[in-house]
Amino acid sequence: MSKKLKVVALLAGTLIVNGAALAEESFGGWLINFDRTKEVKPVTDKRYLKECGECHFAYQPGLLPARSWEKLLNADALKNHFGDNAEFDKDTLQAIHDYAVENAADKSFYKRSRKIALATAEGEAPLRITEVRYIKRKHKDIPEKIVKGNKDVKSLSNCNKCHTQADKGVFDNDTVSIPNYPDWDN
Ligand code: HEC
Ligand code: HEC
Repeated sequence: MSKKLKVVALLAGTLIVNGAALAEESFGGWLINFDRTKEVKPVTDKRYLKECGECHFAYQPGLLPARSWEKLLNADALKNHFGDNAEFDKDTLQAIHDYAVENAADKSFYKRSRKIALATAEGEAPLRITEVRYIKRKHKDIPEKIVKGNKDVKSLSNCNKCHTQADKGVFDNDTVSIPNYPDWDN
């Protein structure tokens, strides 16, 4: 590359990086972070992490379509959230709701989120990630005894028990380790 071209490339790079910082999910951001976007966007919102990580793994919004979050994250629904009361004050709820909807699977460039969006494209609004066809298919060969019958897992909903980098939004096969069954492979 000539010196002049290098300078131009550097300048363009800086512009793209700055642009991406302003709008994380912008096209520019997607382009320069192509590798990172293979998985699911990690949770960056501290309030969401705290409130939604209290009883279970703080599921990334990119694991369900916006329609699902609309159904899950409203005052009425949260009074009986899978048998638990998970009510929040109005401001907190609004912030969490908006964060989830804005980062939902059908609004994300991340590859696994795209797959989830496709799997629920027919207007489906599953209330559980574990009911999304794509997620169901990926786990169909795992025997019950090493999920429900496993005292250190208990439920397929506990993603982070087996996916060692779930909190980073990484669910790749290579990062799976099932407690008490470290050598399980299908
Ligand atoms: C008071 C406890 C509590 C809080 C707080 C809570 N949840 Fe839950 N959540 C539960 C329980 C219990 C389940 C059912 C878990 C199971 O079946 O293993 C659940 C399940 C879920 C599921 C379905 C998981 C699946 O695929 O099976 C989603 C999605 C979910 N919660 C999202 C959220 C979000 C988003 C927040 C923050 C607004 C939140 N939860 C806060 C208790 C809570
Ligand atoms: C009992 C352990 C366990 C739990 C709990 C679990 N998974 Fe998995 N998951 C696996 C295993 C094992 C595989 C790899 C299956 C295979 O080899 O094809 C997998 C595969 C996946 C894949 C596909 C990875 C790839 O490279 O194609 C995704 C996405 C995924 N899981 C997401 C989740 C999410 C989201 C949750 C929680 C709602 C979850 N998993 C809960 C064990 C688990």
